[in-house]
Amino acid sequence: MSHPSLSVLTTHNKTARAISGEKFSVSWKSPSNIALVKYWGKKENQIPLNPSLSMTLSQSYTLTRVTAITDREEKKLKVNADAGHPFIPKMELFLQYIEKEVPILKELSFNVETTNSFPHSTGIASSASGFSAFALCLLSIAEMVSGKNIASGEFFNLASFVSRMGSGSACRSLYGGYSLWGKTDHVQGSSGLFAVPIAKKVHPIFRNLHDAILVISSEPKSLPSTKGHALMDHHPFASARIIQAENNLSETLKALDSGDIERLISVTENEALTLHALIMSSKGGTVLLKPPTVNVILRIREARRKGMPVFFSLDAGPNVHLFYPEKSALEVEQFIRDELVSSCENGLVIFDCCGTGPVLQEI
Ligand code: DP6
Repeated sequence: MSHPSLSVLTTHNKTARAISGEKFSVSWKSPSNIALVKYWGKKENQIPLNPSLSMTLSQSYTLTRVTAITDREEKKLKVNADAGHPFIPKMELFLQYIEKEVPILKELSFNVETTNSFPHSTGIASSASGFSAFALCLLSIAEMVSGKNIASGEFFNLASFVSRMGSGSACRSLYGGYSLWGKTDHVQGSSGLFAVPIAKKVHPIFRNLHDAILVISSEPKSLPSTKGHALMDHHPFASARIIQAENNLSETLKALDSGDIERLISVTENEALTLHALIMSSKGGTVLLKPPTVNVILRIREARRKGMPVFFSLDAGPNVHLFYPEKSALEVEQFIRDELVSSCENGLVIFDCCGTGPVLQEI
């Protein structure tokens, strides 16, 4: 597998290096994403067991500012000015990885200020938005320190490549529209090392697909994703799952390209239910669905039988992502208020839609 090269960001030129006490600061806003074809299970080096495809969100994002200083007296990494912040262990591992690839970052200490636009544990992947934003900031800082500018296309490819090491799903957040991660014969240039955008092959009806996130429970995840992926290591259905994911990916690509919503509905719901079926049939048999999750799913299907173009996805938790096209927004949002809000914790629904990807913030 060819490896995107970060060597462009290394420098041996002494004059281009940061001088002691110099400060560099940058801020990126990066969105979360929701997988239509699920990444579930991984091999060594964060290579996914199967290709996945996601829609990038618009309103659910992380805003991160990284301030780097060339002062080795400082504690290496602080998050929101706190050296004991709970995100630090995972971020430190990530930093160690990226420093191996971009050694000039070793000369710096980092203060990270980060906020999410959405509440915690709501079925929106904060690791996807968080690690993509952090990776973008670190690469921008590396550009500043090395005095080198990477062309935009290559920059996002590198950011996808490195953010994968923080969290697999993060590598898909670097692009607007829809992104694919994982090697597949269906998409030229696809790779397990980074995601690729598939925006050009998407029919207009899906370019502004809405996603209402129905928060059934905001309890912290009972199955952390790393443990979840490990359940696939000796799963009795693992080989069948890999074949199914390839077929579902092919179906999803065809549906997105042609605007065939029936096809997209069928494959998206199959993926969501398969994810939970795999979790339930794993060793230990974890059940992440709650009674209101099932109630909401049944109501969505009943509304669809009556002609409403609505369908759902699930992450590894009880919350429901409800999709609908822009043109049906009024009707569907009325249906949500009338029939679904009562199943949500404190009536919480987060209205989101397909987004355009990360944005560099003004200094
Ligand atoms: C069910 O990307 O959170 O949301 O790579 O261990 O950080 P790590 O896992 P993570 O897994 C996401 C799993 C999923 C499906 C998906 O987003 O594709």
